[in-house]
Amino acid sequence: MRLILIGPPGVGKGTQAQHLQELLGIPHVSTGDLLRSAVQEGSPVGREAKGYMESGRLVPDDLIARLLAERLDRRDAAQGFLLDGFPRTVAQVEALDRLLAARGSTIDLVIALSAPEVEIVRRLSGRRVCPKCGAVYHLDNLPPASSGVCDACGTPLVQRSDDTETVIRERLRVYGEETLPVTEVYRERNVLAVVDGSDNAAVVASRLTEIVKGS
Ligand code: AP5
Repeated sequence: MRLILIGPPGVGKGTQAQHLQELLGIPHVSTGDLLRSAVQEGSPVGREAKGYMESGRLVPDDLIARLLAERLDRRDAAQGFLLDGFPRTVAQVEALDRLLAARGSTIDLVIALSAPEVEIVRRLSGRRVCPKCGAVYHLDNLPPASSGVCDACGTPLVQRSDDTETVIRERLRVYGEETLPVTEVYRERNVLAVVDGSDNAAVVASRLTEIVKGS
């Protein structure tokens, strides 16, 4: 299955992608994670992307499309994948169309998660991540067993540099302007399912399970 999870920052795409990856046995391809790894490595792509990410703007379409093409060429993505964070602009939809056409495939399903803005800001402000293994926590909803330390690897947790209130507002603005039109493209293609993501993670996961099993 070739699936896209779309939705505003902090709505729970990464959280639900973990669930869907296990359910469907396909790789979770997050362009945010790919970019953060590139930044951490200090690669040329990472150096170019850093400033955009820290201010909540989108990195240029051609840069992210190249990064995605390289990732989809890996063997584990041959039979299907779950995209999280791509496409985020109409130009990226077109780039993805070209990439898939060259591989003789198309997108099967696009799931759009939604939640009220106040909940999104609460989720992002309370998010803490492990800089070593990438595990994601929340101060109230999903705290680690031992305060401030990753359950999986014992590393001290950090706050993402784009999870400050000013940058969160900018990311939400960019989402409304650049990414909402993407959902309309997929609605017109009749592959869009809209899911209420405002309940707790287990409830949202069961909604997603129902949709992917029925598609
Ligand atoms: P990216 O990493 O993709 O960030 P995002 O889309 O803003 O999404 P997030 O990762 O912040 O949130 P999420 O929806 O995954 O939420 P999560 O599950 O963690 O992109 C970062 C940046 O990279 C962009 O701003 C841009 O600069 C660049 N970029 C990336 N892709 C690009 C592209 N295609 N083009 C151009 N630039 C690109 O959950 C959030 C918190 O809430 C967690 O603490 C979690 O525990 C908690 N939580 C989750 N679900 C629930 C629930 N149901 N109830 C309660 N709490 C919950």
